[in-house]
Amino acid sequence: MKTQLENIYKNAAQDIEKASSITDVEEIRVKYLSRKGEFNEIKKGLKDLPDEDKRTIGQLANEITQKLELALKNKYDEFYIKELNEKLQSEQLDVTLPGKYTPMGHIHPITSTTDEIVSIFQNLGFSVIPDNLSPEVETEYYNFDMLNVPKDHPARDVQDTFYTKKAPNVLLRSQTSGAQIHAMEGKNPPIRVVAPGRVYRNENINARKNNFFHQIEGLYVDKDITFGDLKGVLNEFIRIYFGASRPTRFRNSFFPFTEPSAEVDVQCIMCQGKGCKTCSGTGWLEVLGCGMVDPNVLQGVGINPDVYTGFAFGMGVERLAMLKYAIDDIRLFFNDDIRFLEQF
Ligand code: DAH
Repeated sequence: MKTQLENIYKNAAQDIEKASSITDVEEIRVKYLSRKGEFNEIKKGLKDLPDEDKRTIGQLANEITQKLELALKNKYDEFYIKELNEKLQSEQLDVTLPGKYTPMGHIHPITSTTDEIVSIFQNLGFSVIPDNLSPEVETEYYNFDMLNVPKDHPARDVQDTFYTKKAPNVLLRSQTSGAQIHAMEGKNPPIRVVAPGRVYRNENINARKNNFFHQIEGLYVDKDITFGDLKGVLNEFIRIYFGASRPTRFRNSFFPFTEPSAEVDVQCIMCQGKGCKTCSGTGWLEVLGCGMVDPNVLQGVGINPDVYTGFAFGMGVERLAMLKYAIDDIRLFFNDDIRFLEQF
């Protein structure tokens, strides 16, 4: 048994000598020292020896085990340090090399303005309507019919609205107001939402008009909502967005889906109200339409207008951005001139 042990030790020592990696070292450990390893097999035979031999052979076995463990550990450390050094070498960074220039991207001013406006309304208790309730490709039903727009209204004309060839009544929405219908359909008040998005109109393009632009629609329906609430919310919005000192005016107006209706003008920042090309000489720029939701609209979506009232508004994001940052031409937003976009 003694020779057996010594032979195993000799073989193990040779194996360790030949090992060339941490994996080799692990394999050797398993082969000789694990529970199913060669040493354990021998140790199992110890119990059949006479007491005298048990002691000496046992001792020898322990000594050999300790020697092997030490040899394995030394080998392991040697490879560990070697592999670590190799890794450090190959992953070395030269911090003195000049960096690669990566141009910074910017949030588009229309996006940042939209985000800013939406967050003002969120702070006033409005939530943002999910995208699937505010599609850019709409049907006449949502864009016009349910908003009480008469069949012969000029806005429905192909000169004002882009129709698709998909189906006779499918169009690119001309206003975000259709989101009001989606927001109310099948729901009970209170409803308090905003819906930001892109709208399309067959316009002659100039400094104030583009054939697509962005709106933020708002809707608040509940018991006892009054025109005073509408003015209060919109004045608060303007105060937060522009600061208290910007002159604004409420003007009466007409929309088929609100009664009464109003519009809000903000003094032109380019000419301080004196009149210029941006405001076409009037000194004011219209930024939103609003009003009390017409009872016909409420009825259409199954909300009882004798119990509930509401207000709605739709604002132009480009106009609001122009008036805040003194941008004198709406086309600047869309012609991808980096010198313009970089300023935001
Ligand atoms: N949709 C109108 C437009 O595009 C704006 C508008 C007016 C929206 C009155 C409203 C509203 O919600 O109540 O000109």
